[in-house]
Amino acid sequence: MIRSVLWILLCLSAMGPFVKHCFVFGDVVTCSDIVPMRHRNDVISIKDFGGISDGSTLNTQAFREAIYRIKHLKRRGGTLLYIPPGVYLTESFSLTSHMTLYLAKGAVIRATQQNTWSWPLIAPLPSYGRGRELPGWRYRSLIHGDGVHDVIITGGENGTIDGQGAMWWNMWRQKTLKFTRPNLIEFMNSKNIIISNVMFLNSPFWNIHPVYCSNVVIRYVTILAPADSPNTDGIDPDSSSNVCIEDSYISTGDDLVAVKSGWDEYGIAYGRKSSGITIRRISGSSPFAGIAIGSEVSGGVENVLAEHIGLFNMGIGIHIKSNIGRGGFIKNITVSDVYIENAVKGIRMTGAAGDHPDDKFNPNALTVVKGITFRNIWGVKVQQPGSIQGLSNSPFTGICLSNINLYGVPGSQTSPLWKCSDVSGAARLVNPSPCAELASTYGSGSCMTSF
Ligand SMILES: *[C@@H]1O[C@H](CO)[C@@H](O)[C@H](O)[C@H]1NC(C)=O
Ligand SMILES: *[C@@H]1O[C@H](CO)[C@@H](O)[C@H](O)[C@H]1NC(C)=O
Repeated sequence: MIRSVLWILLCLSAMGPFVKHCFVFGDVVTCSDIVPMRHRNDVISIKDFGGISDGSTLNTQAFREAIYRIKHLKRRGGTLLYIPPGVYLTESFSLTSHMTLYLAKGAVIRATQQNTWSWPLIAPLPSYGRGRELPGWRYRSLIHGDGVHDVIITGGENGTIDGQGAMWWNMWRQKTLKFTRPNLIEFMNSKNIIISNVMFLNSPFWNIHPVYCSNVVIRYVTILAPADSPNTDGIDPDSSSNVCIEDSYISTGDDLVAVKSGWDEYGIAYGRKSSGITIRRISGSSPFAGIAIGSEVSGGVENVLAEHIGLFNMGIGIHIKSNIGRGGFIKNITVSDVYIENAVKGIRMTGAAGDHPDDKFNPNALTVVKGITFRNIWGVKVQQPGSIQGLSNSPFTGICLSNINLYGVPGSQTSPLWKCSDVSGAARLVNPSPCAELASTYGSGSCMTSF
């Protein structure tokens, strides 16, 4: 409720030209009905399993026993695990099906800052072939779910999951990590998941990572990590379908939402795409991108809708990125009704970004990028409006820009220009004027239905 009031105020103050999109009082458009919220009659408390909320006693055993009880008693309609107010220090633990993890107002689940030698390790994801940042296995996420369904993580107001990431960020900076850092939450091979009304703080690495999942709803979450914290992506739907991300505030040290599907020869062989991803009413800040696709797209990414996005103090507003050797595709992406304030760049698309898992990638495996629409984008204090750089052997096609106004920094000397290469499509009502490749084809071809 508060969030929707804030959104309307933001709309009124900042999005003058889009006011018609702000008045959504009646039926608020939502995708969250893909997973119905469930009430659970069976309720247990972490206190019943020896949980101690003093912030210094380890509760790993209490979490494991409570979840073991849920898994083996199999109550009809599932079980809610209640976390009362207080700070519960814990190591990594795994969820089971048919459960709700409910954090009361004032409840904090906090990752221990123990030595990493006892942190559990798990096998690499097949679509990555190794840990994302280092070869070999990877540390398991703080809260993990593999092969589960009907799981809800929710709470009252500021129930918090705190990754205490500083220890991990320092290991990254000092190059003393042995394996890839843990996500705060990862669901693998899972379906019918809801994450709502929880705050995520200081993740060691990516915050929320659904991978090989379907039907995932993430809404009314707040995700915070310092701007200089390395690789603290907000939400990364990865080789997953039907993911609904709505009504959230994300401010981290890396991309706020990044849609992925594995990389290079591993992602191509695994061949699992991300599709049906909706990202709506999200706002936040980052030195990297607000909405990103890639650069890991080897299984393909299609049918993504991002709309009503507010981005403040950004590196890049919207970033669509792949690399040589990635293969896969990026198709049918629509980004609309975005407000950007103070950014280095508004829109960037590139076919050559990022790193590789190893040097065995096929240099002829190029990503097909087509059918990308940017509509109703308004920016102020944007140093460069955009660059769209395809590959000569795999040009970007069907790139449609409509009603885009990206104003520079007042008083700045440089004339802001779009940069394009190996791109085709069309542009209308774009200011400053778009690159000739798009402007000259105005009104023709594949963009007609997007305008
Ligand atoms: C959550 O709210 C309670 C009550 O307002 C407050 O005492 C507590 O400090 C808050 N916790 C966090 C992590 O913000
Ligand atoms: C394109 O993606 C949208 C979701 O953004 C979906 O509704 C639509 O059906 C897709 N179009 C095609 C041709 O698949």
